[in-house]
Amino acid sequence: MDKAKLQLQGKEYELPVLVGTENEVGIDVAALRGASGAITYDPAYGNTGSCSSAITFIDGEQGILRYRGYPIEEVAEHASFPEVCYLLIYGELPTPAQLARFEDQLTRHTLLHEDMKKLFDGFPATAHPMAVLSAMVASLSAYYPQRGGEDELDLNIIRLLAKTPTLAAFSHKKSVGQAFVYPRNDLSYTQNFLHMMFAVAAEPYRPSEVLDRALTMLLILHADHEQNCSTSTVRMVGSSQANLFASCSAGVSALWGPLHGGANQEVLEMLQHIRADGGDYKKYMAMAKDKSSGFKLMGFGHRVYKNFDPRAKILKKAADAVLAEMGVADPLLDIAKNLEEIALSDPFFIERKLYPNVDFYSGIIYRAMGIPTDMFTVLFALGRMPGWIAQWKEMRDDPKTRISRPRQIYVGHTQRPFVPLSLRSEAKAPVLVPA
Ligand code: ACO
Repeated sequence: MDKAKLQLQGKEYELPVLVGTENEVGIDVAALRGASGAITYDPAYGNTGSCSSAITFIDGEQGILRYRGYPIEEVAEHASFPEVCYLLIYGELPTPAQLARFEDQLTRHTLLHEDMKKLFDGFPATAHPMAVLSAMVASLSAYYPQRGGEDELDLNIIRLLAKTPTLAAFSHKKSVGQAFVYPRNDLSYTQNFLHMMFAVAAEPYRPSEVLDRALTMLLILHADHEQNCSTSTVRMVGSSQANLFASCSAGVSALWGPLHGGANQEVLEMLQHIRADGGDYKKYMAMAKDKSSGFKLMGFGHRVYKNFDPRAKILKKAADAVLAEMGVADPLLDIAKNLEEIALSDPFFIERKLYPNVDFYSGIIYRAMGIPTDMFTVLFALGRMPGWIAQWKEMRDDPKTRISRPRQIYVGHTQRPFVPLSLRSEAKAPVLVPA
């Protein structure tokens, strides 16, 4: 195996080099501090591998995304969402019998403990559904505590996958003041979610095939994305041996931020804003390039993809197809395409390798499906749940896992003597907290 050499303060250190199955190279610094006293410094972890993983492969330069080796384009075209959950969590595509059993289990665990319904009453109707979802996912650990055994963990994995759509749909029903709609065992995973979201007690509801297919594709495209912000959060929380529900609830919270999964809501609101302002998208492109404007083109840019986001490519095509199939003409789609077209030929975006990401077109499809804007990130969480579970499980099963505990470079005061209260001068005190 190759070694990397590091020269530091007159000494040389040899560091092992790791090479992944796709020839990614990493310098193993695990023993560095012990040998040299120095740590590595990499804020936001742009150059740091936090684990080895066999779940998802991304080549950001080439625009490649694969789940367990299978290209995202093929998975999105051929698989059902439960198949993808199984693939990510257990490592292989299920056989027909394995899939039938898995789907049956998912169907049988969709109901919530009746007491959990009371928790929804405590939230204001205006609560953002991501706040509700994160609280509800964490509270599953109160109803299904993890006491031991692998069988129990497998059951909790099923429970989490099966109940997330119910929790998500109930949080929507709560926000619009409608009665909760219970799951139905004759419907598939995706059909069931649409049923719980859109059915009302007063009339029968059958989810359309177009909606079902669109939702399946969206969930699959969001299902995993290796060590992103929310997944790293799940692994970080899980590394303390916190339970599955608590760890995944932390993932929901991390996903909510506008720089991560929350961007899908922000994109739609940005497009609506541009339209309401007369549709002058060129003005907003100019603002995006002017750092002093404070305006960012939401849905653009990615830490890893520096060529194109393969998910965005699929979604752009799908947006046209889904809207056409549903007979929806959305002026926001035209604004989005115009923004993209300018960005792809503008040196500011080309030099910074800024391309549309998964959130740029997904909102337009959600909107055409009738999903309210503040539910967009919830849909992302629903899709990402199997990825979080798979990564949590891989972390837990890895004998090398230790509690995650980064170091820091301390830049505060060096040691100074404590000043008693009576000797502290008002006149010289810096103003730290506004009066
Ligand atoms: N609009 C305008 N300029 C941008 C944008 C954008 N959306 N994104 C990045 N830039 C510029 C930055 O200002 C910076 O310019 P500089 O080099 O002149 O200072 C350069 O491009 C590099 O950007 P960073 O912010 O350093 O890139 P980073 O990898 O830290 O951030 C991120 C990536 C967070 C995705 C960023 O591109 C962004 O904020 N995009 C908008 C939010 C968004 O769409 N998030 C969803 C990401 S996908 C996901 O999480 C599912």
